[in-house]
Amino acid sequence: MGFFLALGSVADPSAQDLGGFELSRDRLLLWCSALLVLLVCAFVVWDEVSPGYLPYQKEFHRLVEDRFGPERAAATPMGLQQIWLESADRVDRCVSCHLGVTWEGLEDAEQPMTSHPSAPLENHPVEKFGCTFCHGGQGYATELPAAHGWVAHWEEPLLDSQLSEDYRIQNKWAFLQANCNTCHRFDRETEGAPIVNRGKQLIRDKGCRACHIIDGRGGSIGPDLTRVGEKSPEQYDYSRLTSIQSLYSWQVAHLQNPKSFAADTVMPDFGLNTADANALALVLMSWRDQDLPAEYLPGAILRDIPTPEEAERERIMREGEGRFFVEKTCFVCHDVSSLGIVSATKIGPDLAQAVADAPRRFGRTLDSFMMEPTGTMAVVLSKQIKLTDEEKLEAVRLMKIAYEKYQESQTESED
Ligand code: HEC
Ligand code: HEC
Ligand code: HEC
Ligand code: HEC
Ligand code: HEC
Repeated sequence: MGFFLALGSVADPSAQDLGGFELSRDRLLLWCSALLVLLVCAFVVWDEVSPGYLPYQKEFHRLVEDRFGPERAAATPMGLQQIWLESADRVDRCVSCHLGVTWEGLEDAEQPMTSHPSAPLENHPVEKFGCTFCHGGQGYATELPAAHGWVAHWEEPLLDSQLSEDYRIQNKWAFLQANCNTCHRFDRETEGAPIVNRGKQLIRDKGCRACHIIDGRGGSIGPDLTRVGEKSPEQYDYSRLTSIQSLYSWQVAHLQNPKSFAADTVMPDFGLNTADANALALVLMSWRDQDLPAEYLPGAILRDIPTPEEAERERIMREGEGRFFVEKTCFVCHDVSSLGIVSATKIGPDLAQAVADAPRRFGRTLDSFMMEPTGTMAVVLSKQIKLTDEEKLEAVRLMKIAYEKYQESQTESED
């Protein structure tokens, strides 16, 4: 703008009438300001077209020269660098700035020049794996904000230490582990991903599969979770969240208090502490399609085959003599130990002993208690679990069988 104004003044014929010294000083001023504006414009244009990696490449060049001498510095890469993962149809240009990844001797250099920690790359050479499979971020971008793109609802943010800080998670690289698990989901355990391993352990221990199908196995009281990480953020209601409004926060909050999201849900409150809820949420978020060529999928597919004991425990829960207590969701709060029914929450007493325990506790027989319950069970049976009279009698019949088995096992263990 100033540039055109200056030219306009020069062309103004009335300016000719002004005399001598005054005129030339004004002109000089005008020309100077015009030149200044021109320079600013040129700089802006240069800044637009000059790539964001250039300053880092120059710095890298200087760093290599300092440490390894001019010869190696002369051979440092310049210009756009990229790793093309042909079969996966991906291009990662992160190495345009992160030039030291595969170098030794730059461990203490500043980002983005640093040598990469070696452990993760031992099993995943960068030529084959690139960066974004593990780190997230936008592989094709060459400018900082775009490459590290932080997107509120978990699209492809860089899963960096800032993210852990935002969510107050101690492990700097917690979120990265969700990405490990998109490839390693069928591993029972993955070395280097302890948080994910913890989450998987909880899924087995808490019996999520009693109500949810996961990888084709499980019950159908709740929704199938096999691809829960694929669900779009718009499908969730964030109005109850007091923390960051993201899908991840939703998962954590829901796990810690399912009833605050759906008052009549039978999903139990497992009393999860924050670390455990985070671990579970990370695993849930990792359950998404990767559509990867086979060479990117580690080892045998479906390696998380349950141990024979676990398979048997699950079968008993779903098909055994006590399945009534699973189908009617009593097991959310009660073990029926002698029938193999295990509750993750153990909110109520073990129903294997109800025959003897109910009279002690309520001063009447189990039959009478079930027909007209008091206390918590009055609420449960009027609000949450509707049983017909036949079903109540069936429950009593099964609790009597359970009690017999319980007594048998007691005498056996006394022998
Ligand atoms: C334009 C240059 C540039 C590009 C392109 C770039 N980075 Fe960075 N990266 C940096 C700089 C500078 C830092 C250090 C400052 C910071 O953390 O923002 C950094 C830091 C990081 C860190 C450490 C963050 C932390 O929490 O300690 C990771 C991880 C990372 N980058 C990964 C990537 C990945 C993956 C890509 C490709 C998708 C990428 N970067 C692309 C410049 C870049
Ligand atoms: C197999 C997964 C994997 C791949 C592939 C991978 N990284 Fe990493 N990266 C990690 C892990 C895990 C860490 C954290 C390691 C640690 O601190 O123990 C990490 C750490 C980093 C850091 C921070 C280092 C520090 O000292 O703070 C940067 C920067 C980084 N990676 C960039 C990249 C770039 C650029 C690429 C691609 C050339 C890449 N990574 C490829 C898993 C990976
Ligand atoms: C793009 C998919 C992918 C990602 C992401 C990925 N891995 Fe791997 N990982 C593989 C493949 C493929 C192998 C090679 C397995 C083989 O040779 O059978 C492997 C091997 C391994 C191994 C060697 C033992 C084994 O299971 O074969 C470990 C440990 C490992 N990965 C841990 C991790 C960790 C930790 C992360 C995250 C930082 C990660 N991986 C991210 C695909 C991936
Ligand atoms: C007693 C049955 C039951 C058990 C056990 C159970 N859930 Fe649920 N779950 C439900 C029901 C019913 C819903 C749907 C209503 C709701 O959102 O609470 C649900 C919903 C969910 C959702 C939301 C799905 C979506 O649409 O996004 C997730 C995630 C979830 N459960 C995870 C888990 C995990 C992880 C465990 C184990 C730690 C678990 N559930 C154990 C019954 C159960
Ligand atoms: C939401 C949790 C919850 C669910 C679901 C639940 N109960 Fe209970 N139940 C309790 C609690 C807690 C008690 C302990 C008594 C009390 O606090 O009033 C109890 C007590 C009982 C008792 C008395 C046991 C004794 O030893 O005194 C019986 C019998 C019983 N429940 C049967 C059932 C049956 C059958 C179902 C399924 C149809 C069921 N409960 C579902 C929470 C639950």
